[in-house]
Amino acid sequence: MKLFLFIKFTTFAPMIAKTTIDKVYETVRLEEVIGEFVNLKKSGANFKGLSPFSEERTPSFMVSPVKQIWKDFSSGKGGNVVAFLMEHEHFSYPEAIRWLAKKYNIEIEETEQTDEEKLKTTERESLYAASDFAQDFFHKTLLETEEGKAIGLSYFKERGFSMETIKRFKLGYSPDSWTAFTDEALRQQYKLDFLEKTGLTIVKETKKFDRFKGRVMFPIHSMSGRVLGFGGRILKIDKKAAKYLNSPESDIYHKSKVLYGIYYAKQSIAKEDNCYLVEGYTDVISMHQAGIKNVVSSSGTALTSDQIRLIKRLTNTITVLFDGDAAGLRASIRGIDLILEQGMNVRVLTFPDGDDPDSFAKTHNTEEITDYIQANARDFISFKANLLMDEASNDPIKKGALVRDMIGSIAKIPNAIQQEIYLKECARIMNVSEHVLFNELAQILTKNKKDFQKQAKIEQPLAVVNKEIVLEKVDRQKTLEYQIIALLLLYGNEKYEFEDTIIDDEGEVRTFMIEQTVAKQVFLHLQADEIAFSNTLFKEVYDEIMAMVNQNETLEISHFVNHSNTKVSELTTHILMNEEKYIKHDWQRKQIHTKEKKDTIDQMTVDTIYNLRLKLIDNLIDSIKNEYKEQEMENHIRDEIMDYTGLRKDVASKLNRVV
Ligand code: CTP
Ligand code: MN
Repeated sequence: MKLFLFIKFTTFAPMIAKTTIDKVYETVRLEEVIGEFVNLKKSGANFKGLSPFSEERTPSFMVSPVKQIWKDFSSGKGGNVVAFLMEHEHFSYPEAIRWLAKKYNIEIEETEQTDEEKLKTTERESLYAASDFAQDFFHKTLLETEEGKAIGLSYFKERGFSMETIKRFKLGYSPDSWTAFTDEALRQQYKLDFLEKTGLTIVKETKKFDRFKGRVMFPIHSMSGRVLGFGGRILKIDKKAAKYLNSPESDIYHKSKVLYGIYYAKQSIAKEDNCYLVEGYTDVISMHQAGIKNVVSSSGTALTSDQIRLIKRLTNTITVLFDGDAAGLRASIRGIDLILEQGMNVRVLTFPDGDDPDSFAKTHNTEEITDYIQANARDFISFKANLLMDEASNDPIKKGALVRDMIGSIAKIPNAIQQEIYLKECARIMNVSEHVLFNELAQILTKNKKDFQKQAKIEQPLAVVNKEIVLEKVDRQKTLEYQIIALLLLYGNEKYEFEDTIIDDEGEVRTFMIEQTVAKQVFLHLQADEIAFSNTLFKEVYDEIMAMVNQNETLEISHFVNHSNTKVSELTTHILMNEEKYIKHDWQRKQIHTKEKKDTIDQMTVDTIYNLRLKLIDNLIDSIKNEYKEQEMENHIRDEIMDYTGLRKDVASKLNRVV
């Protein structure tokens, strides 16, 4: 019997101990958690509500308290409690577990870490704690002290920020004295080391002073709402001092990986399926106050690929909002190729001369802003082509450069169909033939491909196989593998009479009936042949099921519903949710009508096993034939094929008897 890597799945959340995760799953009630976000009403054994992932009038969002899974029929999403938090709150897996542990007062145990790791974790936590304290301190100073109210609060009010907005974004004020913040933080037992590492305090030899002295404060939050750093705006007119000061890079603040406003925008971005990208803190806040919530800012710098990836978790469309007088429009346009490269749709929008999103949002209501965006947002490629055409106009040299520039952008798009659409659009705008553009594109693509191949050469498999055959094979195989997993998860523990054959000592084939579980039946027939699943996810689940069956004989589906690998729990949920459909559909397709589903599980099991084996034999025969296609086939190869063909016949005959 084989040994399986049973420990593997615990490594997905290295920080939180497995025991804690189990405790969380045991304690948590899915309907309670979802009830915090969705208004649920009892409906039979289930709960029903309006989908939080789409705009709908009739509820199609279902929660099963018995199975502890949810399904949103409008978006097709579903899963366990963690999947819900990841989907709705956009938490990572550990973030979801931590959130649940907090809600249910479960103490979090960390897994064993090396001393170095422990130090690092504690240090990061200390940096978070100091930042959190600073946010509170600045916010309180703004709202509760005389200086804060007179200087900071009146400034924000003058800029048109409402109290609600100020409180929501936790805006603050840092007193105009050298050590007000640092003194208070030290009094509250925050270590100077961490104040320095977060950049809140600047330490110079024996002197220390507040970095953000006399500035209004914009805390910068992570996707899950933790304070990572700050932006502080100066209030006096001082040509020498920077208008905005930002936290320096630290273990918790990486400028290139954060987007200002993402915490407040994430739900809206997912719902609207669009993310507005603006330049600054105040643009985000004003737009938000005006009712446009799917807005984030890259804080004055060009978008990085890490930032794009953050957005990509939420939507595939970015709309870049440019200031009306953006002198650097051309420069900023370059950065947009990065977004195209990630296969995202990019739209752009400029505001009327002199306006930026901040000023525009203040002078227009929600409807006017939405209308303006609707009417003026344009596809990036055609926007760029138009913009550059205006400059190149009749200058042929400039136009040549422009064509290359445009094609460079188009080449970044990973989707070939989209490339072609854009190319045609460009040809029209720039008034050149499509043919010329296609040639140019082909050249760039060939060059890229060569570069890529140079890099990938080492990883290329040695055997050259017919790609199409392999692909088709894998897909049919995948369906069968899925079916095996479904049977195991749904009926693995159920016992049936299965037919078995052995060859006795006299070489006689004997057939007899044996009562055993579906899981055992699958094990004996697939494991014995060392059949490996081609789909890695299915393989992982299959191996784990088999390990479980072999260890304790029973299979616990709850383990898979609440699996620490979200892909596994998703798959399990999908199978549970579609139990009826899946079984019925399959039998209908085979035109077998049965009175009761359960009566046929044994047949279904045997049937699927043989089908999978048949498929694998076919694969083998194909690959042998394929390998020797152009060569003289040697005798032993012919024999091998003959052997497999014989085996194939055997298996097929069994199948015919069953079906
Ligand atoms: N920025 C910065 N440092 C500066 C200037 C700007 O980090 N010295 C960043 C800030 O994140 C700022 C963004 O670039 O929000 C856009 O700059 P700007 O348009 O000058 O700032 P606004 O947000 O429009 O600020 P305000 O309206 O207060 O002038
Ligand atoms: Mn601005």
